[in-house]
Amino acid sequence: MSLDELGDWQRTCECGTPRRSDIGREVFVMGWVHGRRDHGGVVFIDLRDRSGILQIVFNPEESRTAHEAAGVLRGEYVIAVRGTIRERPPETLNPSLATGEVEVKAEELRILNESATPPFMIEDDGNVAEGTRLKYRYLDLRRPAAQERLMFRHRLTKCVRDYLDRAGYVEIETPILTKSTPEGARDYLVPSRVSPGNFFALPQSPQLFKQLLMVSGVDRYFQIVKCFRDEDLRADRQPEFTQIDIEASFITPERIYELIEGMLEAIFALSGIEIQTPFPRLTYAEAIERYGIDRPDVRFGLELADVTEIMRTAELRVFRDAADKGGLIKALAVPDGSRLSRKDLDTLPDEVAQFGAKGVAWARVTPEGWQSPIAKFLSEEQMKSVEIATRAEPGSVILFSADKAKVVNDSLAHLRLVIGDRLGLIPHDQNALLWVTDFPLFDYSEEDKRAVAIHHPFTAPRDEDLDRLESDPLSVRSRAYDVVWNGTELGGGSIRIHRTDVQQRVFRQLGIDDAEARSKFGFLLDALSYGAPPHGGIALGLDRLAMLLSGSPSIRDVIAFPKTQRAACLMTEAPSEVDPRQLRELGLKLDV
Ligand code: AMO
Ligand code: AMP
Repeated sequence: MSLDELGDWQRTCECGTPRRSDIGREVFVMGWVHGRRDHGGVVFIDLRDRSGILQIVFNPEESRTAHEAAGVLRGEYVIAVRGTIRERPPETLNPSLATGEVEVKAEELRILNESATPPFMIEDDGNVAEGTRLKYRYLDLRRPAAQERLMFRHRLTKCVRDYLDRAGYVEIETPILTKSTPEGARDYLVPSRVSPGNFFALPQSPQLFKQLLMVSGVDRYFQIVKCFRDEDLRADRQPEFTQIDIEASFITPERIYELIEGMLEAIFALSGIEIQTPFPRLTYAEAIERYGIDRPDVRFGLELADVTEIMRTAELRVFRDAADKGGLIKALAVPDGSRLSRKDLDTLPDEVAQFGAKGVAWARVTPEGWQSPIAKFLSEEQMKSVEIATRAEPGSVILFSADKAKVVNDSLAHLRLVIGDRLGLIPHDQNALLWVTDFPLFDYSEEDKRAVAIHHPFTAPRDEDLDRLESDPLSVRSRAYDVVWNGTELGGGSIRIHRTDVQQRVFRQLGIDDAEARSKFGFLLDALSYGAPPHGGIALGLDRLAMLLSGSPSIRDVIAFPKTQRAACLMTEAPSEVDPRQLRELGLKLDV
């Protein structure tokens, strides 16, 4: 069969738009055959484009040639129809369709392309394996829900651009082929053909370039920018993802909070959500103390209590050991604990084994005292004090973790979420946005046996802590902040180091000696020496925002062509082997 060309036909109407007021209009519509029904010789086609679905009627009594031509139509054929909008007969009205009151009486049909039978129906019912959907992503994206997410992301990006433009921020592109910027992940490397044996790194973020733009006097920069990180992937992480990246000169954290709060207000409004500003703030220390995590979901209680001092003298080996070795004993009380069965309690240790926890002790508080495997090791007074510290009441179940601080906090932060979810304590219709402030500058890495940057190495220490940089580095607080939404880190940033000497001192603490600093970051140290203004900024995960605001369970849903958990593109089959000639040109030999 020969296919018709579009010829001189111009589309005059999108499928999702005709309404009653269009009745009588002659239209040219174009799109995909979404569905087809034959009723007593009359062919009904649901025609789909990105705006919606429109019913086209091919009636042999109205146009014999169009009806005959429609005989070959199958799902996903691409067609153009000339016809007239008319009212649907009352018994065929379809209230579930925006165009459900009208239809097009077809007068002429042009078939623009055929389609092989698709591997799945273009519908939103979600019964198709993700692997198949990603392999045929271009078909998957035809689904109305997928289209809606792409449109939403477009509106989100536009909203950000408009907002920052109004605030005097200038969008500037920075290189993709560049030098490694340490953000804590592994780099993606690109070999250089021109300089064999040398590599570019794909940016983990434009961090250093945006700082250099401040040295250039750009004053206020932003960029909607791809970042690349070779790290373990999760539901909210991709190896290449997009940041809303911002930097400004002569700025204080307060002004950044205001800017971002205003931006998020505008973004949430796109989804019809009103949020309260200014956002509450929590210091890092308080977040860890009360929630065990630096990105707490504060929509519900179940706060942690430190009971180390109360339990230090308990006759219980695991508790004593933890306290004696400088660890922690923390507890959280679950109100209405009868909803946690003995079986639930017995599975809790499995939940936290991933954090290195060796168990979870529990106690049921009853009017007659504690029902608990550990009750016999505790005095009345200890039990009372724990009840007060955790605000337990008769009926509560108290959960305990004793270990190194990190194990305890990670475990209880996780249990808090698991139990909050299981018992339905999380109000899903609420939005809790907050700033976490006063992060420490460094963390101690057991693995590397040295300090590592919590944020990144360019984050400024608090002025009042600067003299302890060498003597007590782990006590130094930074000028970093994160913005957190319902337990997800939306973004993070800091005021930066703008003086060469401070930057060098921080590098030294991170185990980067002056020679290495010069070879890796010489350009930055040089730039700081030429009148770098005080500056700071932030970056927000655009994909995460789009995912959470569109209610998508996975970050892959809001990325047109995402990677799998194994960092592969199933559609293009990247990564893939390359031609031996390419390797020779690059001076590379494989050893795999
Ligand atoms: P940071 O590393 O905290 O900061 O990243 C900022 C935000 O980017 C998002 N994000 C990711 N989203 C999807 N997949 C990933 N793999 C991924 N990694 C990070 C998160 C995160 O909050 N240069 C600094 C910012 C600055 O200091 O201005 C930076 O990149 O939402
Ligand atoms: P055991 O004496 O080992 O049977 O432990 C008694 C209770 O303490 C059990 O409920 C264990 O799950 C719990 N437990 C064991 N190790 C820890 C720990 N590190 N922190 C909190 N509870 C623990």
